[in-house]
Amino acid sequence: MITRQTIADVRAQVQAWHRAGESVAFVPTMGNLHAGHLALVARARELAERVVVSIFVNPLQFGEGEDLEAYPRTPEEDRQQLQAAGADLLFMPSEQEIYPGGREGVTFVEVPGISGLLCGASRPGHFRGVATVVCKLFNIVQPDVACFGQKDFQQLAVLRRMVSELNMPLEVVGVPTIREVDGLAMSSRNGYLNAAERKIAPHLYQTLQALAERVQRGERDYPALEASGWQMLQQDGLQPDYLVLRRASDLLPPQGDEASLVLLAAAYLGRARLIDNLLIEL
Ligand code: PAJ
Repeated sequence: MITRQTIADVRAQVQAWHRAGESVAFVPTMGNLHAGHLALVARARELAERVVVSIFVNPLQFGEGEDLEAYPRTPEEDRQQLQAAGADLLFMPSEQEIYPGGREGVTFVEVPGISGLLCGASRPGHFRGVATVVCKLFNIVQPDVACFGQKDFQQLAVLRRMVSELNMPLEVVGVPTIREVDGLAMSSRNGYLNAAERKIAPHLYQTLQALAERVQRGERDYPALEASGWQMLQQDGLQPDYLVLRRASDLLPPQGDEASLVLLAAAYLGRARLIDNLLIEL
């Protein structure tokens, strides 16, 4: 695996691969890698001959008072894990390389509508920051395919729409969520949990599973279902931010005839804001 810091070096390497007839899969990350990230790398290896991974903690997608400074940074461990996972190129740009004019006044990509829901409502500007950096990374790497986790279901939906509406010439592939043995979705932010909170954290997924079972058994009063899930989280010591059942296609409220629904939740636990989701195929 080679590591590159500059846009010019990444472009030169990817162009060489493309000229040699090799396809390129891309996995953007913010580092502090865990088995969830590595599942994306494994999927990327199946999809293309070459795999590029980026590590960049993107300041644009952090709101005021969020954890930009505290966000865990473990570049040496990450590099070793990616090497072992069979990535070909690690792109680790500086902030100056990505935003040479500073954070203010950058040209941005806004995916309207869906970016304002759920996590976007609690974190104004977050999905604009994500769409902007991913668009830039796509323009730098020019991959044939890019892999994103279903763990961040709304992010995946926002990016699919960006790629479709801006006619970006690549395929977006979603990869199922990797979980700890007790069901907690793996996340770099799980490191913020203390031992007591870590015991409570799996209740988020357990609640989604219990609600999904009720839908599968025929329950259709979705507002009542959401309210009961909210209560379950609170009883377990989680502070819900949202817990909703939506259409999987656009994350809007179901109209009654959808085949694919998704339960989505975010909850605060100590210093952490946990998110999770569960697809329901009717
Ligand atoms: P980050 O949180 O580092 O996640 C990078 C990728 O790993 C995302 O596609 C995310 O959905 C996926 N991922 C995280 N945890 C996962 C899990 N438990 N199972 C499967 N996939 C998982 O998401 C971002 O970074 C950033 O917003 C980024 C897209 C890199 C733009 O800055």
